Amino acid sequence: MTTHLAPPAHTPSGAAQHSAELLPLVDALAPGQILTLSLSLESARALLATLSAERKGLFEWSPEADGDAVRVDVVKRDAAKGSLRGVLEALSWDHARIDGFEQGAFAARAAGDLEAARALFERFARNLFRHIGFEEDLLFPALESAAGLPPHAGPTAVMRAEHIEIRATVQLLRGAIGDSSADTVRLRERLHGTLGPHSVKEERILYPMIDRVLSGLRSDELVGAIQAYEPR
Ligand SMILES: [Fe+2]
Ligand SMILES: [Fe+2]
Repeated sequence: MTTHLAPPAHTPSGAAQHSAELLPLVDALAPGQILTLSLSLESARALLATLSAERKGLFEWSPEADGDAVRVDVVKRDAAKGSLRGVLEALSWDHARIDGFEQGAFAARAAGDLEAARALFERFARNLFRHIGFEEDLLFPALESAAGLPPHAGPTAVMRAEHIEIRATVQLLRGAIGDSSADTVRLRERLHGTLGPHSVKEERILYPMIDRVLSGLRSDELVGAIQAYEPR
């Protein structure tokens, strides 16, 4: 199985960017295995539409804008075709995947490879900011409206405030990770001190609450919308 530390970037040629030719690559994955594709935005949208229609419930999908291209992590799930998705499972997967980039960045820095550290941390920051974006734009409003929660008080307000702190620390680390003279230890402790408990609260309280108040079908639709989410 491939790891988060060195995901294999598979970059099909222009002629091979059609969904019909990419589908066999996804089908060939073992459950849990990651395929990283570098696609045009148009090809990425087309492949997601094809997978959603023809491989429903069988894959995780997380895109990351990378210049004019989109880098997509696709993972085959160990599930029955057509099975409904829940928010807890889908977003716990995304937390672990994103944390893998942060761990990889600091492992590279410890090994003296500052270029790899900077590149992996950039992937961490982009993926985390997209994750925060869909939580604030899609997930929290869905919970607020289904549970009758106010957006400026209660659990989603706490999560939004923590996002501000997490973003600020990630931005500071973005500037420091590739600088051998920078002291990243305290910044990293600050990041772990906020992001760690934040993710735990989401996985133990908020995500299960969302799956509870939404019907199974609505949770599944929400996971589909999250997969298709493109940050503003
Ligand atoms: Fe969050
Ligand atoms: Fe989250």
